[in-house]
Amino acid sequence: MQIYLDSANPGEIEEALSWGVISGVTTNPSLIANETGGSASLVQRICKILGGKKPVSVEVLSTAAEDMVKEARRIALLAPNIVIKIPMGVEGLKAVYQLSQGVERVKCNVTLIFSVNQAILAARAGAAFVSPFIGRLDDIGWDGVGLVREMVDVFTKHNTDTAIIAASIRHPRHIHEVAMAGAHIATVPFSVLKQMISHPLTDLGVERFLRDWAKTRTDEVF
Ligand code: G3P
Repeated sequence: MQIYLDSANPGEIEEALSWGVISGVTTNPSLIANETGGSASLVQRICKILGGKKPVSVEVLSTAAEDMVKEARRIALLAPNIVIKIPMGVEGLKAVYQLSQGVERVKCNVTLIFSVNQAILAARAGAAFVSPFIGRLDDIGWDGVGLVREMVDVFTKHNTDTAIIAASIRHPRHIHEVAMAGAHIATVPFSVLKQMISHPLTDLGVERFLRDWAKTRTDEVF
């Protein structure tokens, strides 16, 4: 399973990339609104940090299909590695269909997916990615990981080549579970990515190795 960073913060993105574990970035309007400066220049900066190759999802704000398509085309011109995030809905499906069929073949990530049926429709319309929001489903007492499991099952049974990005990840257990469920990608906030690294027994283990060495060895370490 690939890991994307769910962030619009250039510092976080640079740091996570240096760990060698990040295959792409997803942003959304809320994440971009938290950052300073112009949104177009921020997006270009993020795309450059990703080397102009690894995908960066950027969401449209328009709500009518024709406006979404125009906005998507403007956003797509900012960098070669942009994927357009489009919210699920009738207008969103129309926009995805136009963008994925058009000569420019803009890649779309259909966002705010909360059911298998929504995922099937997004894939049929031509989405390259679908983003089920598992944390927000858990918040209302539903089973976010269960949705990802069912989506993987349906897409596998029907040879659907749309990639499933598990989004709205709240804690490291979510990542373990969506990986087990077969999600192709998990998009992870920086705070959760850091949590994934740590385990108290790892920290204790390092401490113990250093302590044992210091007890008997006075020579230089290798
Ligand atoms: O980027 C979309 C998604 O990951 C948002 O997560 O925490 O706002 O539900 P959250």
